[in-house]
Amino acid sequence: MTASDPTASGTTAHGGPRRSALVTGASAGIGAAFAEALAREQYDLVLVARRADRLEELAKRLRDARGVAIEVLAADLTDGAGLARVVARVEEGPPDLLVNNAGHGSFGNFAELDIDREVGEIQLNVVALVRLTRAALPGMIRRGHGAIINVSSMAGFQPMPFNATYGATKAFVNSFTEALHEELRGTGVRVQALCPGFTRTDRVPGHRRGGALRGALLRVDGGGRGGGSFPPGAGAGRPDLRARRREPPDVEPAAVHAPRTHPASDGASQPAGPARLIP
Ligand SMILES: NC(=O)c1ccc[n+]([C@@H]2O[C@H](COP(=O)([O-])OP(=O)(O)OC[C@H]3O[C@@H](n4cnc5c(N)ncnc54)[C@H](OP(=O)(O)O)[C@@H]3O)[C@@H](O)[C@H]2O)c1
Repeated sequence: MTASDPTASGTTAHGGPRRSALVTGASAGIGAAFAEALAREQYDLVLVARRADRLEELAKRLRDARGVAIEVLAADLTDGAGLARVVARVEEGPPDLLVNNAGHGSFGNFAELDIDREVGEIQLNVVALVRLTRAALPGMIRRGHGAIINVSSMAGFQPMPFNATYGATKAFVNSFTEALHEELRGTGVRVQALCPGFTRTDRVPGHRRGGALRGALLRVDGGGRGGGSFPPGAGAGRPDLRARRREPPDVEPAAVHAPRTHPASDGASQPAGPARLIP
């Protein structure tokens, strides 16, 4: 997004105001799908993940196809210095939309799992999300508009034996997001937890791409619904999340579209939208 960039004017190719989004975990899965959908909506993007090569590849494809400005910011969000670089980027110019998507979950008996990996999961799923949210909010509130999507999970709604840390981090994300949703009432800034069920990605390769993307966000794929245990074959006796899955509703991608309106003038009267979106 430099001055020499052909997209650096104040309007999009379609004549609307330029909007920006920062997406973490954009090198794969749901984050990459967010990037695709937002580029299609003419957002300029900052893409964050560890694998710079994958981010560059995606950035090139989206620049070529959509004509938007894309910045690649390779960083490990579990590393203090890496997270600090992304926090600094957000503080420097808060995007219209922050998508806290990067996340990870390990499986197994907690007593036998590598503790450093479990703590790393908390760093990624919770600490990075909290720091980035805190970095974005003051500027968004000052401007009177902005939105944050925290990618949570259906796993946040109940304890998750053999996936204990992951479920707990997502319960945190739900609680944190719902509290902020209330705090931000009247500011023009919206925050929402997106709670997908099983969705086929790199992390969950055995599952067909299901309603999480198609119904809630993007409709990027006409594929069938996900199902089965996670990972395939594991977790006998665990609660069946499918029982809690809703049919993929024909939901407007409310979260993605949240910053479309710039409610600086009528922020107080604007409905804040649902605190949680369960595709
Ligand atoms: N797939 C599902 O069934 C499902 C269901 C419910 C919720 N979710 C949630 O959706 C989000 C995305 O999941 P996904 O299935 O799309 O996962 P994925 O395909 O494994 O992608 C994870 C993304 O996070 C990035 N990432 C991982 N560790 C990172 C780190 N330390 N620092 C920076 N970036 C990191 C990865 O990129 P690099 O490896 O390049 O860093 C990748 O871009 C997660 O929060 C997950 O909990 C997924």
